[in-house]
Amino acid sequence: MKLRRLDQLLSSLGYCSRKEAADLVKEGRVLVSGVSPKKAESKVDAHAVTLDGSPLEAVDGLVAMFHKPLGYVCTHSDGEGPTIYELLPQRWSNRNPAITSVGRLDKDTSGLLLVTDVGTLVHRFTSPKSEVEKVYLVEVDRDLDETLISTFASGTVMLRGESKPCLPAQLKITSARSASLTLTEGRYHQVRRMFASQGWHVEKLHRERFGEYLLGDLQPGQWRIVESSSITTHPLHPEFADHEQE
Ligand code: URA
Repeated sequence: MKLRRLDQLLSSLGYCSRKEAADLVKEGRVLVSGVSPKKAESKVDAHAVTLDGSPLEAVDGLVAMFHKPLGYVCTHSDGEGPTIYELLPQRWSNRNPAITSVGRLDKDTSGLLLVTDVGTLVHRFTSPKSEVEKVYLVEVDRDLDETLISTFASGTVMLRGESKPCLPAQLKITSARSASLTLTEGRYHQVRRMFASQGWHVEKLHRERFGEYLLGDLQPGQWRIVESSSITTHPLHPEFADHEQE
């Protein structure tokens, strides 16, 4: 079992600074196996620590599903509009390493985004070699044509400004102007550009699956930790509270 300094542990998980950790210990808010530790520098098993009665969050690395609402960008920087990080707990951005999204969804796309602080996972999920399936629901501006199914499956679709064709993608037409598209790569604005290359404009785009993760009943703005000892669904950010189910 790996032991870690308590103050370093709390600060690397984004709860507080190392200095503030000492106060939390003094105030008796931090317990190790139910007992108040002597000092904040004590070496502890992260799994045995509670803060205000709750186990520490995702001590071995955080992976969460997030329902990205429309209108939010996936960058960390200001200037491009509100960011997804404003809807996620501040302590996740304070973690070391900080969380980041696994790939991105563009501002006008909603749906499932994974966020994590596990760098190797970002690489594993975004590398084209890993061929993780991503399923998008698409609405377009005019009636779809059955020939698109074989065109997208052919592995010959070229995107403007690129030299390699897109990998084969699976299109299922679900109504005159809606379809689902399954991709195993993640190029910039790929879905919109694939349809544009064939003369269709994507009016609505939503991702419902990323690899083994399904968006399910997660509401816009809501997140759920998926790789942790405790799987939790967080209440909605107030801005999206009216999406909450009964
Ligand atoms: N394809 C797009 O066009 N946009 C996204 O956000 C994701 C895939």
